[in-house]
Amino acid sequence: MIKYIDEIPLEGQRVLMRVDCNVPLDVSGEIADDNRIRAVLPSVRHAVETGARLILCAHLGHPKGRRVEKYSLSPVALRLGELIGQEVFMADDCIGPEVDQLKKTLANGQVLLLENLRYYKGETENDPDFAAALASQADVYINDAFAVSHRPHASVVGIPGLVKKCGAGLLMKNELTYYEKAMHTNPARPMVAILGGAKVSTKLGGIKNVIPKVDKIIIGGAMANTFLMAMGQDMGRSLIEPELVDTARSLMNEAEKRGVQFLLPTDCVVAPELSENAPASVVEAGSVPPDQMVLDIGPETTELFCSAVENAGTIVWNGPMGAFEIKPFSRGTMELAHAVGRSSALSIIGGGDTDLAIHLAGETDNVSYMSTGGGAFLHLLEGKELPGIKALEEAC
Ligand code: 3PG
Repeated sequence: MIKYIDEIPLEGQRVLMRVDCNVPLDVSGEIADDNRIRAVLPSVRHAVETGARLILCAHLGHPKGRRVEKYSLSPVALRLGELIGQEVFMADDCIGPEVDQLKKTLANGQVLLLENLRYYKGETENDPDFAAALASQADVYINDAFAVSHRPHASVVGIPGLVKKCGAGLLMKNELTYYEKAMHTNPARPMVAILGGAKVSTKLGGIKNVIPKVDKIIIGGAMANTFLMAMGQDMGRSLIEPELVDTARSLMNEAEKRGVQFLLPTDCVVAPELSENAPASVVEAGSVPPDQMVLDIGPETTELFCSAVENAGTIVWNGPMGAFEIKPFSRGTMELAHAVGRSSALSIIGGGDTDLAIHLAGETDNVSYMSTGGGAFLHLLEGKELPGIKALEEAC
């Protein structure tokens, strides 16, 4: 059993907290969406209020082991400072003697943010020396970075054994509690999984794992094309993964054997290209013209999918129904977002695209939980344990 931050005495302790503030930046380097910073506020506030000397560590983007200024976490320190109403000191690096000195001078209730962990290869390679340098001076380690907890990186799995005490943060607690409620603790039925997005290869494990648990599976997005092809349908120029046609067929057979309703598009919105001005039209799922590609579910499918979630007890949704960021192809995803918002089910939303769709549809307040994880959420959906949680279990 892992401990959570509110079960560990923090006063006067140097607390190294891994957070995921991998926020999108706009062209001028400003934070375009601060949700991931807001998500760690409960743990940060708890640490500050209980008198911890808080040292935050995080990554931003993929600097690939080099110092790349556009991936500096400075804007995160500023934004976090505004949100908690006190200065967040910014270190120029994440390891080294100067950083150690800053860690030593922190007073109770003060907050220091270390520079991007991924400026060092040691982070992604889980180098033990890098982990030891990071853990230097720390008494307690807290992992509140759900979104990166599927990565076996130094700051995620390498530190827990190197400090006196460790545990998980309040965001992590929320993520795991909602996921557990939806997938394990006798979920309210009917239970519906909605899986979409571009590639079936990225969702195979998730589909396999949810089949024995759910009553209905809704498949949308380009990944539905591979299933439709497995049914012998003509998909024109649509994105297909031909090597997965047999796997798609066996997943459908497995669902049928277990009495799980497997819902696929019956019609779709097609166009010759993915662009705002492309001439879009609706065709039956099996008759996509050779020069066209599927870019959204059609109106009949939208109705079918929306009514499938209407009386759901639990909904887990990962991946959009089409290219929803581009107007002519947004309808299916938006309508489904509204249907999920209207439903009284326990609804858990995971993945950046699905999150964005729920935001754009204005349904954020009408779903039960929006996960901060993309890959980490999928990892759970595949029924796998998060390496970050395993490391805490083994060390704490
Ligand atoms: C995310 O954005 O999903 C997490 O921060 C993990 O980032 P990564 O995919 O670059 O490891």
